[in-house]
Amino acid sequence: MSTILGIETSCDETSAGVVEDGVRVLSNVVASQVDLHAKYGGVVPEIASRAHIERLDSVIEEAMAVAGVTQETIDAIAVTNRPGLVGALLIGVTAAKTLSWAWGKPLVGVDHIRAHAYSAAIEMDAPPWPAVGLIVSGGHTSLFRIASPTSIELLGATTDDAAGEAFDKVATILGLGYPGGPLVEKLARDGDPKAVDFPRTMLAHDSLDFSFSGVKTAVLYHVHGHGRTSGGLERLAPRELADIAASFQQAVIDVLVRKTMLAVARTGLRTVVLGGGVAANTTLRSALAAACAERKLAFHAAKTAYCTDNAAMIAALGYHQLQAGDTAGLDLDAYASAL
Ligand code: KG4
Ligand code: ZN
Repeated sequence: MSTILGIETSCDETSAGVVEDGVRVLSNVVASQVDLHAKYGGVVPEIASRAHIERLDSVIEEAMAVAGVTQETIDAIAVTNRPGLVGALLIGVTAAKTLSWAWGKPLVGVDHIRAHAYSAAIEMDAPPWPAVGLIVSGGHTSLFRIASPTSIELLGATTDDAAGEAFDKVATILGLGYPGGPLVEKLARDGDPKAVDFPRTMLAHDSLDFSFSGVKTAVLYHVHGHGRTSGGLERLAPRELADIAASFQQAVIDVLVRKTMLAVARTGLRTVVLGGGVAANTTLRSALAAACAERKLAFHAAKTAYCTDNAAMIAALGYHQLQAGDTAGLDLDAYASAL
Protein backbone atom coordinates (compact mmCIF):
# COMPACT_ATOMS: atom_id res chain seq x y z
CA MET A 1 0.00 0.00 0.00
CA SER A 2 1.27 3.43 -0.92
CA THR A 3 0.08 6.76 0.50
CA ILE A 4 0.66 9.90 -1.54
CA LEU A 5 0.30 13.55 -0.53
CA GLY A 6 -0.84 15.62 -3.52
CA ILE A 7 -0.48 19.39 -3.92
CA GLU A 8 -2.31 21.53 -6.51
CA THR A 9 -1.82 25.28 -7.07
CA SER A 10 -2.00 25.65 -10.87
CA CYS A 11 -4.78 28.26 -10.99
CA ASP A 12 -7.25 29.59 -8.43
CA GLU A 13 -7.75 26.64 -6.07
CA THR A 14 -5.25 25.87 -3.32
CA SER A 15 -5.58 22.15 -2.70
CA ALA A 16 -3.91 19.27 -0.87
CA GLY A 17 -5.09 15.68 -0.62
CA VAL A 18 -4.00 12.25 0.51
CA VAL A 19 -4.75 9.20 -1.65
CA GLU A 20 -3.94 5.51 -1.18
CA ASP A 21 -2.89 3.37 -4.14
CA GLY A 22 -4.23 5.86 -6.68
CA VAL A 23 -7.90 5.20 -5.80
CA ARG A 24 -8.84 5.62 -2.14
CA VAL A 25 -9.18 9.29 -1.17
CA LEU A 26 -8.36 9.85 2.52
CA SER A 27 -8.69 13.63 2.22
CA ASN A 28 -9.16 16.30 -0.44
CA VAL A 29 -9.05 19.86 0.92
CA VAL A 30 -9.80 22.63 -1.59
CA ALA A 31 -9.54 26.35 -0.70
CA SER A 32 -11.24 28.22 -3.53
CA GLN A 33 -10.17 31.76 -4.38
CA VAL A 34 -13.34 32.59 -6.33
CA ASP A 35 -14.23 35.40 -3.90
CA LEU A 36 -10.83 37.07 -4.44
CA HIS A 37 -11.06 37.08 -8.27
CA ALA A 38 -14.81 37.60 -8.80
CA LYS A 39 -14.71 41.38 -8.83
CA TYR A 40 -12.08 41.32 -11.62
CA GLY A 41 -14.18 38.94 -13.75
CA GLY A 42 -11.35 36.40 -14.03
CA VAL A 43 -8.23 35.04 -12.34
CA VAL A 44 -5.57 37.66 -11.53
CA PRO A 45 -2.26 35.73 -11.49
CA GLU A 46 -0.52 37.83 -8.80
CA ILE A 47 -3.51 37.57 -6.46
CA ALA A 48 -3.64 33.79 -7.07
CA SER A 49 0.07 33.35 -6.19
CA ARG A 50 -0.24 35.44 -3.03
CA ALA A 51 -3.31 33.53 -1.86
CA HIS A 52 -1.55 30.18 -2.50
CA ILE A 53 1.37 31.34 -0.32
CA GLU A 54 -0.96 32.41 2.46
CA ARG A 55 -3.12 29.27 2.43
CA LEU A 56 -1.01 26.31 1.31
CA ASP A 57 0.60 25.43 4.68
CA SER A 58 -2.72 25.19 6.50
CA VAL A 59 -4.38 23.37 3.58
CA ILE A 60 -1.61 20.70 3.66
CA GLU A 61 -1.85 20.42 7.46
CA GLU A 62 -5.61 19.97 7.25
CA ALA A 63 -5.35 17.37 4.46
CA MET A 64 -2.88 15.32 6.53
CA ALA A 65 -4.92 15.67 9.74
CA VAL A 66 -8.19 14.63 8.04
CA ALA A 67 -6.41 11.65 6.42
CA GLY A 68 -4.78 10.72 9.74
CA VAL A 69 -1.30 10.55 8.21
CA THR A 70 2.05 11.93 9.32
CA GLN A 71 5.30 12.65 7.51
CA GLU A 72 6.43 9.13 8.47
CA THR A 73 3.44 7.40 6.84
CA ILE A 74 3.51 9.41 3.59
CA ASP A 75 5.34 7.52 0.80
CA ALA A 76 5.77 10.38 -1.69
CA ILE A 77 4.75 13.93 -2.52
CA ALA A 78 3.09 14.59 -5.88
CA VAL A 79 2.70 18.14 -7.16
CA THR A 80 1.18 19.76 -10.25
CA ASN A 81 4.09 21.28 -12.17
CA ARG A 82 2.26 21.96 -15.47
CA PRO A 83 0.25 23.41 -17.14
CA GLY A 84 -0.95 26.57 -15.39
CA LEU A 85 0.03 30.01 -14.20
CA VAL A 86 3.76 29.69 -13.65
CA GLY A 87 3.80 31.94 -10.57
CA ALA A 88 0.97 29.94 -9.02
CA LEU A 89 2.51 26.56 -9.93
CA LEU A 90 5.82 27.61 -8.37
CA ILE A 91 4.22 27.99 -4.93
CA GLY A 92 3.09 24.34 -4.93
CA VAL A 93 6.29 23.08 -6.54
CA THR A 94 8.46 24.91 -3.97
CA ALA A 95 6.37 23.60 -1.07
CA ALA A 96 6.54 20.03 -2.44
CA LYS A 97 10.31 20.20 -2.96
CA THR A 98 10.79 21.54 0.57
CA LEU A 99 8.72 18.72 2.11
CA SER A 100 10.43 16.12 -0.09
CA TRP A 101 13.84 17.32 1.10
CA ALA A 102 12.87 17.79 4.75
CA TRP A 103 11.01 14.46 5.06
CA GLY A 104 13.31 12.47 2.78
CA LYS A 105 10.41 11.34 0.54
CA PRO A 106 10.32 10.98 -3.27
CA LEU A 107 8.94 13.87 -5.34
CA VAL A 108 6.67 13.39 -8.36
CA GLY A 109 5.82 16.12 -10.92
CA VAL A 110 2.29 15.69 -12.32
CA ASP A 111 0.68 17.13 -15.47
CA HIS A 112 -2.65 18.67 -14.40
CA ILE A 113 -4.52 17.75 -17.60
CA ARG A 114 -3.38 14.12 -17.45
CA ALA A 115 -4.53 14.06 -13.82
CA HIS A 116 -7.97 15.25 -15.02
CA ALA A 117 -7.80 12.43 -17.62
CA TYR A 118 -7.16 9.92 -14.81
CA SER A 119 -9.75 11.36 -12.41
CA ALA A 120 -12.70 9.14 -13.44
CA ALA A 121 -10.74 6.15 -12.05
CA ILE A 122 -10.64 7.61 -8.53
CA GLU A 123 -12.69 5.45 -6.15
CA MET A 124 -13.48 2.92 -8.90
CA ASP A 125 -13.20 -0.77 -7.95
CA ALA A 126 -11.64 -1.81 -11.27
CA PRO A 127 -9.57 0.48 -13.52
CA PRO A 128 -11.49 1.61 -16.66
CA TRP A 129 -8.48 1.49 -19.02
CA PRO A 130 -7.99 1.43 -21.91
CA ALA A 131 -10.38 4.30 -22.62
CA VAL A 132 -11.01 7.40 -24.69
CA GLY A 133 -10.78 10.39 -22.33
CA LEU A 134 -12.60 13.68 -22.91
CA ILE A 135 -11.08 16.39 -20.72
CA VAL A 136 -12.91 19.70 -20.61
CA SER A 137 -11.44 22.40 -18.38
CA GLY A 138 -11.02 26.16 -18.25
CA GLY A 139 -7.80 26.13 -20.28
CA HIS A 140 -8.00 22.85 -22.22
CA THR A 141 -10.36 20.72 -24.26
CA SER A 142 -8.60 17.46 -25.07
CA LEU A 143 -9.28 13.96 -26.32
CA PHE A 144 -6.89 11.27 -25.14
CA ARG A 145 -6.26 7.60 -25.78
CA ILE A 146 -5.57 6.36 -22.25
CA ALA A 147 -3.88 2.97 -22.46
CA SER A 148 -2.93 3.08 -18.78
CA PRO A 149 -2.42 5.85 -16.17
CA THR A 150 1.14 6.38 -17.40
CA SER A 151 0.47 5.88 -21.10
CA ILE A 152 -1.76 8.75 -22.23
CA GLU A 153 -1.70 9.90 -25.86
CA LEU A 154 -3.21 13.18 -27.05
CA LEU A 155 -5.61 12.67 -29.99
CA GLY A 156 -6.98 16.19 -30.34
CA ALA A 157 -7.14 19.54 -28.56
CA THR A 158 -8.60 22.99 -28.73
CA THR A 159 -7.25 25.29 -31.42
CA ASP A 160 -8.54 28.45 -29.69
CA ASP A 161 -10.90 28.86 -26.71
CA ALA A 162 -11.31 25.88 -24.39
CA ALA A 163 -14.86 24.74 -23.58
CA GLY A 164 -14.70 26.17 -20.06
CA GLU A 165 -13.26 29.42 -21.36
CA ALA A 166 -16.23 29.69 -23.76
CA PHE A 167 -18.66 29.12 -20.85
CA ASP A 168 -16.85 31.82 -18.83
CA LYS A 169 -16.87 34.33 -21.72
CA VAL A 170 -20.53 33.67 -22.54
CA ALA A 171 -21.34 34.19 -18.85
CA THR A 172 -19.66 37.61 -19.11
CA ILE A 173 -21.59 38.43 -22.31
CA LEU A 174 -24.85 37.46 -20.54
CA GLY A 175 -23.88 39.54 -17.50
CA LEU A 176 -23.82 36.53 -15.17
CA GLY A 177 -20.44 36.97 -13.46
CA TYR A 178 -17.54 34.67 -12.64
CA PRO A 179 -16.91 31.74 -12.67
CA GLY A 180 -19.23 31.36 -15.60
CA GLY A 181 -19.75 27.63 -16.18
CA PRO A 182 -22.03 26.85 -13.25
CA LEU A 183 -23.97 30.13 -13.78
CA VAL A 184 -24.61 29.40 -17.48
CA GLU A 185 -25.72 25.87 -16.56
CA LYS A 186 -28.13 27.22 -13.94
CA LEU A 187 -29.66 29.76 -16.34
CA ALA A 188 -29.85 27.15 -19.13
CA ARG A 189 -32.18 25.01 -17.00
CA ASP A 190 -35.01 27.49 -17.72
CA GLY A 191 -34.24 27.79 -21.43
CA ASP A 192 -34.96 25.95 -24.68
CA PRO A 193 -31.77 24.39 -26.15
CA LYS A 194 -33.33 24.55 -29.64
CA ALA A 195 -34.30 28.24 -29.44
CA VAL A 196 -31.18 29.58 -31.19
CA ASP A 197 -29.21 27.60 -33.79
CA PHE A 198 -25.65 28.48 -32.74
CA PRO A 199 -22.81 27.07 -34.91
CA ARG A 200 -21.30 23.65 -34.20
CA THR A 201 -17.71 24.05 -35.38
CA MET A 202 -16.38 20.63 -36.40
CA LEU A 203 -13.21 21.77 -38.34
CA ALA A 204 -12.18 19.13 -40.94
CA HIS A 205 -14.72 16.27 -40.97
CA ASP A 206 -12.28 13.79 -39.42
CA SER A 207 -10.55 16.26 -37.08
CA LEU A 208 -10.40 15.53 -33.35
CA ASP A 209 -9.43 19.15 -32.62
CA PHE A 210 -11.88 21.69 -31.21
CA SER A 211 -12.73 25.35 -31.80
CA PHE A 212 -15.14 27.23 -29.53
CA SER A 213 -14.35 30.85 -30.38
CA GLY A 214 -16.98 30.85 -33.18
CA VAL A 215 -19.89 29.88 -30.94
CA LYS A 216 -18.78 32.43 -28.34
CA THR A 217 -18.72 35.19 -30.99
CA ALA A 218 -22.11 34.03 -32.31
CA VAL A 219 -23.55 34.53 -28.81
CA LEU A 220 -21.99 38.01 -28.66
CA TYR A 221 -23.55 39.01 -32.01
CA HIS A 222 -26.86 37.44 -31.08
CA VAL A 223 -27.04 39.53 -27.89
CA HIS A 224 -25.90 42.79 -29.45
CA GLY A 225 -27.74 42.13 -32.70
CA HIS A 226 -30.90 42.98 -30.78
CA GLY A 227 -30.10 46.66 -31.17
CA ARG A 228 -26.93 48.61 -30.60
CA THR A 229 -23.29 47.63 -30.11
CA SER A 230 -23.86 47.96 -26.37
CA GLY A 231 -26.88 47.62 -24.16
CA GLY A 232 -28.24 44.64 -26.12
CA LEU A 233 -28.49 42.72 -22.90
CA GLU A 234 -31.07 45.02 -21.34
CA ARG A 235 -33.41 44.45 -24.29
CA LEU A 236 -33.54 40.72 -23.70
CA ALA A 237 -36.28 39.22 -21.53
CA PRO A 238 -35.19 36.70 -18.86
CA ARG A 239 -36.74 33.93 -20.96
CA GLU A 240 -34.63 34.96 -24.00
CA LEU A 241 -31.47 35.01 -21.87
CA ALA A 242 -32.23 31.49 -20.63
CA ASP A 243 -32.83 30.35 -24.24
CA ILE A 244 -29.44 31.75 -25.29
CA ALA A 245 -27.69 30.02 -22.38
CA ALA A 246 -29.41 26.70 -23.13
CA SER A 247 -28.75 26.93 -26.89
CA PHE A 248 -25.09 27.85 -26.36
CA GLN A 249 -24.62 25.00 -23.88
CA GLN A 250 -26.25 22.55 -26.31
CA ALA A 251 -24.02 23.69 -29.20
CA VAL A 252 -20.88 23.07 -27.11
CA ILE A 253 -22.16 19.71 -25.85
CA ASP A 254 -23.10 18.53 -29.37
CA VAL A 255 -19.54 19.16 -30.57
CA LEU A 256 -17.99 17.49 -27.51
CA VAL A 257 -20.18 14.39 -27.90
CA ARG A 258 -19.69 14.09 -31.68
CA LYS A 259 -15.90 14.42 -31.43
CA THR A 260 -15.73 11.92 -28.59
CA MET A 261 -17.71 9.40 -30.66
CA LEU A 262 -15.34 10.09 -33.56
CA ALA A 263 -12.40 9.27 -31.25
CA VAL A 264 -14.17 6.05 -30.22
CA ALA A 265 -14.60 5.07 -33.88
CA ARG A 266 -10.99 5.99 -34.65
CA THR A 267 -9.45 4.05 -31.75
CA GLY A 268 -11.87 1.12 -31.56
CA LEU A 269 -11.94 1.54 -27.76
CA ARG A 270 -15.16 0.59 -25.93
CA THR A 271 -14.86 2.81 -22.83
CA VAL A 272 -15.19 6.58 -22.44
CA VAL A 273 -14.12 8.63 -19.41
CA LEU A 274 -14.96 12.28 -18.74
CA GLY A 275 -13.09 14.76 -16.55
CA GLY A 276 -12.21 18.44 -16.00
CA GLY A 277 -14.20 21.37 -14.60
CA VAL A 278 -16.82 21.42 -17.39
CA ALA A 279 -17.46 17.72 -16.68
CA ALA A 280 -19.37 18.97 -13.61
CA ASN A 281 -22.07 20.06 -16.10
CA THR A 282 -24.97 17.66 -15.66
CA THR A 283 -26.35 18.18 -19.20
CA LEU A 284 -22.96 17.22 -20.67
CA ARG A 285 -22.70 14.20 -18.37
CA SER A 286 -26.11 12.89 -19.41
CA ALA A 287 -25.61 13.65 -23.12
CA LEU A 288 -22.33 11.72 -23.20
CA ALA A 289 -23.82 8.91 -21.09
CA ALA A 290 -26.71 8.62 -23.57
CA ALA A 291 -24.41 8.59 -26.62
CA CYS A 292 -22.32 5.84 -24.99
CA ALA A 293 -25.38 3.80 -23.98
CA GLU A 294 -26.67 3.97 -27.56
CA ARG A 295 -23.41 2.42 -28.79
CA LYS A 296 -23.08 0.00 -25.85
CA LEU A 297 -19.91 1.73 -24.63
CA ALA A 298 -18.90 1.81 -20.97
CA PHE A 299 -18.98 5.38 -19.61
CA HIS A 300 -17.41 6.78 -16.44
CA ALA A 301 -17.55 10.45 -15.48
CA ALA A 302 -15.30 11.69 -12.69
CA LYS A 303 -17.21 12.31 -9.45
CA THR A 304 -18.15 16.00 -9.29
CA ALA A 305 -15.66 16.63 -6.45
CA TYR A 306 -12.85 15.44 -8.74
CA CYS A 307 -13.98 17.41 -11.82
CA THR A 308 -12.99 20.93 -10.78
CA ASP A 309 -9.43 21.45 -9.63
CA ASN A 310 -8.39 19.25 -6.72
CA ALA A 311 -5.27 17.64 -5.30
CA ALA A 312 -6.75 14.15 -4.95
CA MET A 313 -6.35 13.60 -8.70
CA ILE A 314 -2.72 14.78 -8.47
CA ALA A 315 -1.95 12.32 -5.65
CA ALA A 316 -3.83 9.58 -7.52
CA LEU A 317 -1.91 9.91 -10.79
CA GLY A 318 1.28 10.60 -8.80
CA TYR A 319 0.95 7.11 -7.28
CA HIS A 320 1.10 5.48 -10.72
CA GLN A 321 4.05 7.64 -11.76
CA LEU A 322 5.87 6.64 -8.56
CA GLN A 323 5.18 2.96 -9.29
CA ALA A 324 6.62 3.48 -12.78
CA GLY A 325 9.76 5.12 -11.33
CA ASP A 326 8.85 8.52 -12.76
CA THR A 327 10.15 10.65 -9.88
CA ALA A 328 11.67 14.13 -10.01
CA GLY A 329 14.73 15.77 -8.48
CA LEU A 330 14.86 19.02 -6.54
CA ASP A 331 15.43 20.76 -9.87
CA LEU A 332 11.74 20.11 -10.80
CA ASP A 333 10.47 23.19 -12.64
CA ALA A 334 7.04 24.70 -13.40
CA TYR A 335 5.77 25.09 -16.99
CA ALA A 336 2.86 27.02 -18.49
CA SER A 337 2.20 24.40 -21.20
CA ALA A 338 0.84 20.85 -20.95
CA LEU A 339 2.99 17.82 -21.76
O1 KG4 B 1 -10.67 21.99 -14.42
P1 KG4 B 1 -11.03 23.33 -13.90
O2 KG4 B 1 -11.55 23.43 -12.49
O3 KG4 B 1 -9.81 24.31 -14.01
C1 KG4 B 1 -8.92 24.26 -15.07
O4 KG4 B 1 -8.07 23.34 -15.10
O5 KG4 B 1 -9.08 25.13 -15.97
O6 KG4 B 1 -12.10 23.94 -14.91
C2 KG4 B 1 -12.65 25.20 -14.69
C3 KG4 B 1 -13.65 25.48 -15.79
C4 KG4 B 1 -14.16 26.91 -15.77
O7 KG4 B 1 -14.10 27.42 -17.07
C5 KG4 B 1 -15.61 26.76 -15.29
O8 KG4 B 1 -16.47 27.77 -15.78
C6 KG4 B 1 -15.95 25.40 -15.86
O9 KG4 B 1 -14.80 24.63 -15.65
N1 KG4 B 1 -17.10 24.79 -15.17
C7 KG4 B 1 -18.27 24.49 -15.78
C8 KG4 B 1 -19.12 23.98 -14.77
N2 KG4 B 1 -18.42 23.96 -13.60
C9 KG4 B 1 -17.19 24.45 -13.86
N3 KG4 B 1 -18.66 24.64 -17.06
C10 KG4 B 1 -19.93 24.26 -17.36
N4 KG4 B 1 -20.80 23.78 -16.46
C11 KG4 B 1 -20.46 23.61 -15.16
N5 KG4 B 1 -21.32 23.13 -14.27
ZN1 ZN C 1 -8.18 21.79 -14.03
